[in-house]
Amino acid sequence: MGLTNKTLNNVLPPFAFLFLLVSSPLLFLFKLFRYVQRCRTAENVAGKVVVITGASSGIGEHLAYEYARREARLTLVARREDRLKMVANRCRELGSPAVIVTRGDVSLVKDCKRFIEDTVSQFGRLDHLVNNAGTVEAKMFEEYSNISDAHSLMNTNFWGPVYATHFAVPHLKKSKGKIVAVASPAGWSGVPKMSIYAATKAAMINFYETLRMELHPDITITTVFPGLVENGVTDPELIAEARGRHGLVPKQSATECARAVVDGICSGKTSVAEPSWIGVLFWLSTMCPELMEWAQLRSMKAMDKNK
Ligand SMILES: NC(=O)c1ccc[n+]([C@@H]2O[C@H](COP(=O)([O-])OP(=O)(O)OC[C@H]3O[C@@H](n4cnc5c(N)ncnc54)[C@H](OP(=O)(O)O)[C@@H]3O)[C@@H](O)[C@H]2O)c1
Ligand SMILES: *[C@@H]1O[C@H](CO)[C@@H](O)[C@H](O)[C@H]1NC(C)=O
Repeated sequence: MGLTNKTLNNVLPPFAFLFLLVSSPLLFLFKLFRYVQRCRTAENVAGKVVVITGASSGIGEHLAYEYARREARLTLVARREDRLKMVANRCRELGSPAVIVTRGDVSLVKDCKRFIEDTVSQFGRLDHLVNNAGTVEAKMFEEYSNISDAHSLMNTNFWGPVYATHFAVPHLKKSKGKIVAVASPAGWSGVPKMSIYAATKAAMINFYETLRMELHPDITITTVFPGLVENGVTDPELIAEARGRHGLVPKQSATECARAVVDGICSGKTSVAEPSWIGVLFWLSTMCPELMEWAQLRSMKAMDKNK
């Protein structure tokens, strides 16, 4: 090993630690300054144009209602068109001046191209792209009998947002717009029975971390980390699974979650954890991964006992 690396190995860790210790009051002041700055420049979305994927149920549906209350114009995307139409009617009642419904599968490039192009040709602009569509699968890795089945999760949760973003960026640059990525705390640390899901969200998080730098300062990117939000999941096995795993984790209504998320987006936050205590899981999984692993193993054992 070169002398430089050897020296860095020994000097950098204690130096970085000391630096953080000494500069923590300054960091705090900086965060406070950013907070005040954000409060003063919160965006008013009335009349702005927002595309929301996965708006037919759950968090996406409630994000649509929240944007509608703030009088944004909306394009709602999902595969179940009948449900989208119901959501669209409610959005109009709540105050949205114009709503388009487009049936689309985000895992298909042509669909993503179409819903972005339709939005711009109809409304003449695009201000926010909300990548919310996603699916979850609870399965031990060894339970995949055909490993090709795992692709569909990545295609929807990761490639879907990538495709939509690809077609939206030129329009968002013009409007100095925003991109929203609905990720998950599962993307921070491993979660038993969710190896592929957690990987799709980790991929999404890192994709947008890079994009935030590449698109700075034209486009603002907000990554969202919802806790356990009540949703439209109807698979009874999945509900039982979530109950067993999250018996102690309080659930939040999708309405409450959506309000906090849109507030965060409009004030230009880089990340929104909702409820905000979820954010603590991030530093725990970074600073003490052993603790997270222990807690996850405990909950997995408890679940097996309950079966
Ligand atoms: N609920 C939670 O506790 C929680 C926690 C962390 C993260 N999240 C994330 O939050 C997001 C929303 O989840 P949710 O809980 O609200 O679930 P949900 O009620 O099942 O909603 C998922 C939405 O995505 C749409 N969708 C799924 N696959 C699609 C595809 N290929 N193309 C287009 N639309 C698709 C669904 O509509 P169609 O079936 O009609 O296409 C539906 O509107 C997901 O990304 C999820 O990973 C949720
Ligand atoms: C596995 O699934 C893929 C599609 O997801 C299919 O093309 C392939 O034939 C399947 N393989 C086997 C061995 O069943």
